[in-house]
Amino acid sequence: MMTQDTKAAHVQRVFSQIAKHYDVMNSVLSFYQHKLWRRFAMRHVGLEVGGTALDVACGTGDWTLALAKRTGPTGRVVGIDFCQEMLDVAKNKVDKRGWNGRPIELMNGDAMALPFEANSFDVATIGFALRNVPDILTVLREMTRVVRQGGKVVSLELSKPEFPPFRALYYLYFNHLLPWIGAAAVKKKEPYAWLPESLRNFPDRKGLEALFREAGLKHVRSYPLTGGIAALHVGTKVED
Ligand SMILES: C[S@@+](CC[C@H](N)C(=O)[O-])C[C@H]1O[C@@H](n2cnc3c(N)ncnc32)[C@H](O)[C@@H]1O
Repeated sequence: MMTQDTKAAHVQRVFSQIAKHYDVMNSVLSFYQHKLWRRFAMRHVGLEVGGTALDVACGTGDWTLALAKRTGPTGRVVGIDFCQEMLDVAKNKVDKRGWNGRPIELMNGDAMALPFEANSFDVATIGFALRNVPDILTVLREMTRVVRQGGKVVSLELSKPEFPPFRALYYLYFNHLLPWIGAAAVKKKEPYAWLPESLRNFPDRKGLEALFREAGLKHVRSYPLTGGIAALHVGTKVED
């Protein structure tokens, strides 16, 4: 059983090892589904031109870039991650795509203690990272704290398929084949052995909904994606 500190150190090591391969592997291992999931998620973030967004655990920055595309040059989008190697890939991407004129800020920081004042953003997103943080509720509370009243907290994350025959088939792939493909591609066992392990103790879709509510969010909705392989959760910060 990992402690919060050992989990954080483990996760940092895993992502520093795969940062350069992360985008390609994401597409291969999810059969390009993650692009469709992100597009679906963008329809639910409720962000407008000139808006402000925080992308927590932004990794290589795909969601950060999508958010900035939505807010436009008058908005503010901050991507934060505690793995510098992942942030370096994000920075290259931002530079290469000519987004320098856009208001994207990338910073190294911890999702467990966000370095922002309360009510700073319209939206806080987290993509494929709640599984990886030391304490899900702490992170959701932090995200809730930094969004304004009426603002949204949005998570896109792997989940647990509910239909038993599909779940059995999927777990065969996810628990056995995927770590093997991952290890062969990056020539290291540890990073892709972590992927199924990180889902094992993670709540299912309804369980994560309950954590959104416990974090103080209202109007909580969740959407299963691709048979429940992934799920989108959206909650709104509303004064009691
Ligand atoms: C699977 S990647 C997801 C990256 C990106 N959000 C995406 O959607 O592709 C998980 C990311 O979470 C980051 N992460 C995990 N725990 C974190 C924490 N406590 N604080 C900041 N970043 C964290 C990792 O460094 C990694 O970049």
